[in-house]
Amino acid sequence: MMSRHVKPAPGGLETDQFSWFARMRHEAPVYVDPRSGVVSVFGYDDTQRVLSDYASFSSERGAHNPTEEQALSASLISSDPPRHRQLRNLVTQAFTPRAVAQMEPRIAAIVAELLDQLCAHGQTPADFIEEFAVPLPVTVIAELLGVPAERRVEFRRWSDTVVSTGGAGGWQSAATAQREMASFFGQMIAQRRAEPRDDLISQLVAAEIDGQRLTSVELIGFCILLLVAGNETTTNLLGNAVLSFEEQPETWERLRAEPNLIPSAIEEVLRYLSPVQSMYRSARGEQRLGDITTHPGQFIVAWIGSANRDEARFSDAERFDIARSPNRHLAFGQGIHFCLGAPLARLEARVALEALLQRARRAQVAPDARLEWVDSTIVYGVKHLPVTIMPA
Ligand code: HEM
Repeated sequence: MMSRHVKPAPGGLETDQFSWFARMRHEAPVYVDPRSGVVSVFGYDDTQRVLSDYASFSSERGAHNPTEEQALSASLISSDPPRHRQLRNLVTQAFTPRAVAQMEPRIAAIVAELLDQLCAHGQTPADFIEEFAVPLPVTVIAELLGVPAERRVEFRRWSDTVVSTGGAGGWQSAATAQREMASFFGQMIAQRRAEPRDDLISQLVAAEIDGQRLTSVELIGFCILLLVAGNETTTNLLGNAVLSFEEQPETWERLRAEPNLIPSAIEEVLRYLSPVQSMYRSARGEQRLGDITTHPGQFIVAWIGSANRDEARFSDAERFDIARSPNRHLAFGQGIHFCLGAPLARLEARVALEALLQRARRAQVAPDARLEWVDSTIVYGVKHLPVTIMPA
């Protein structure tokens, strides 16, 4: 059954995103937009290949001598080997499952405090996004980087603007946001250079590749990437968990009875309502994809959200099944760019859902809620989610 809470397809089509994906997988699994020349791939195998075959599909964004505003386009996520490996080596230590597990007590404390506030609303709906799903990852990443979490309203605005792909003047405001972020992190980096502390920015400032320190632009790029990649995505994972559970409200009860299913329920949310729906690459030379041959530099969109519903890969793919196994979704990507923050996102989601399910029978979405989607073809999530927390 179609949920009433499904995002419309991009481009003003009169259908929802997942019906559009199903149609494209069936009719044109590799599709070239006749106007823009952009190639879209919708199937699991093609998506997996585009994401992981870096020799054929590049992540570079073409900024060779980037300014501070273009720092993100010179960062890890926009680099190919060998530079990618060098940059990634600098941060892997901070994000291993073991390093991240040490953050659990602090995450649990943040979660408890946010839940207190959320539950204090009683029977009046509270905004699950604004009051829980946004502040949790922002506080965690801000503490990890060593920047003041009080600036989170700006962090949110910056991240929203950077991922936004719609609206008049979208690119202009993204440039402004990047300028503001560059100036903010520039100051933080200068402070840590003068006075190192026990935080990730200080570690990055001190890090060296072949005896060379990172440039200011590279440092700024790292910080912006971690802020943008780590927040919006985790916020949407939490919001999308509530949306998916509400499609099958018996999920709440089942998870309360069987909390050991929480990790697999999180994997299923990642598959079913993937927070990142698409990623980009550009073709290196002529590459065969489905029935087409790319030309050098051709832009390619890998539709992760569609791959994760590919019936050739997942049985009963359109069904939300918290016990699904195996569940080899591509929500965190594949290959060398596999999400650096996956262990952290999984941990935050588990701690959050465990605590929520201990305190609440259900976070019920207000029946009259009119959901508004984040204006982006990359991310999947709602701007606000009014819920009533029903005490256990
Ligand atoms: C549910 C939450 C998240 C989702 C769905 C997600 C998704 C993704 C995806 C799909 C990629 C691959 C990009 C590509 O192939 O081009 C990626 C890469 C990345 N993610 Fe995440 N992410 C999440 C959370 C986080 C968090 C919490 C952090 C950091 C604290 C983070 C940091 C990164 C970084 C740095 C990369 C680039 C890795 C590289 O290029 O080697 N992500 N993420």
